[in-house]
Amino acid sequence: MNILLVGSGGREHALAWALSASPMLTKLYCAPGNAGIAEVAECVPIPATDFPALVEFAKSRRIDFAVIAADAQLVGGLWDRFEAAGIRALGPSKAAAVLEGSKGFVKDLCAEIGIPTAAYRRFRDPATAKAFADTIGFPVVIKADGLAAGKGVIIAASKAESDRAIDFMFEGGFGDSGHEIVVEEFMEGEEASFFALSDGKNVIPLAGAQDHKRVGDGDVGPNTGGMGAYSPAPVLTPALEARAMDIFVRPTVAAFARKGLGYMGVLYLGLMITKNGPKLVEYNCRFGDPEAQVLMPRLKSDLLTALLAARDGVLSDFDLRWKDEAALTVVMASKGYPGAYEKGHEIFGLDAAASLPGITLFHAGTERRDGKIVAVGGRVLNVTATGKDVAEAQARAYDAVSRIHWNGSFHRSDIGWRALKR
Ligand code: AMP
Ligand code: GLY
Repeated sequence: MNILLVGSGGREHALAWALSASPMLTKLYCAPGNAGIAEVAECVPIPATDFPALVEFAKSRRIDFAVIAADAQLVGGLWDRFEAAGIRALGPSKAAAVLEGSKGFVKDLCAEIGIPTAAYRRFRDPATAKAFADTIGFPVVIKADGLAAGKGVIIAASKAESDRAIDFMFEGGFGDSGHEIVVEEFMEGEEASFFALSDGKNVIPLAGAQDHKRVGDGDVGPNTGGMGAYSPAPVLTPALEARAMDIFVRPTVAAFARKGLGYMGVLYLGLMITKNGPKLVEYNCRFGDPEAQVLMPRLKSDLLTALLAARDGVLSDFDLRWKDEAALTVVMASKGYPGAYEKGHEIFGLDAAASLPGITLFHAGTERRDGKIVAVGGRVLNVTATGKDVAEAQARAYDAVSRIHWNGSFHRSDIGWRALKR
């Protein structure tokens, strides 16, 4: 089969790496890809945002299946474009991507079908939002309704902060995504990510992981896309995962089917494990980044077969096998991220790091220039290790990280701390 993967980050490299091992694969293309993806796929210089060019390319190269990795493309309707042109693709559709595209929709759905989540209300004007925040007490969580590149959430510690956050969103601080906001209760607990795959009717569990969203050691500083992750996450016991399938995944997919929205694709559950059990923080309609970088090295079964089965509605009785090993990834980033950063510095030590036991390097913001690999992104590399447990994977990953450098690189040095503290 000819496969087209759309995207260019570390998640996409991990997916390309897994897809490239499929016995069903004839040729793997990636648009636009990066220097690491180019080692396992043919990269084509079409931006992920250019839907007409992606569809034209897929038609001209007789693509049998397209894998769309990022929320912006799914929420923007790229699945619908591919399918309308006769090209099978991993969803969800634009309509079903509302799962990630509207926080308010998801909160209403949770209320409708009894999914445990934070108490909330939706607002279109600041005065009533502020009054409601007062009734909840502080800290309170203020969220822009739509996609905001992972930034649309403010946890306000006081009334002053909460009022400021509400005004900021309605004044367009997060762009259009803030024309409607959600005000909700702050949930206390440990966060974890859990992934499942749906064909619209049938669902199978994938695996759990834990991300590190803050930029600094000890979980301080601004939120990022994720500075590292590991899988499995000890907080997500097998019993909790089974429960998550029963109380979140199956009811949600069934509700989407009843509404005629047929949710096909990956479900990413952001969970808060509170003292009263797991509660939903948010849903995403795709694999996580960097969570995919620790899921893929643990997957024993063929990823392509599973994703195709989801697309074709034949996931019933499908069973994915996972390695017992742990995987841990450390994000190496450019100084300044998640703010402004320099580009174009050559990266040294990649081969030495990659040759260490258990190490796989997934590239994020890299480019090949004149035979050199240079850093061109905020998140640049995912140094990923497997090991018999999180501790071994962590030691191996940091050994590899120590071999790699470029001008202005940085990383967190405590990825995995929650798992090791247990
Ligand atoms: P989201 O964009 O929905 O993932 O939110 C970003 C981060 O904000 C989450 O990963 C949580 O750490 C935090 N968060 C969001 N909602 C809540 C909540 N109701 N209670 C506590 N933390 C939250
Ligand atoms: N790691 C967080 C995300 O992919 O949304």
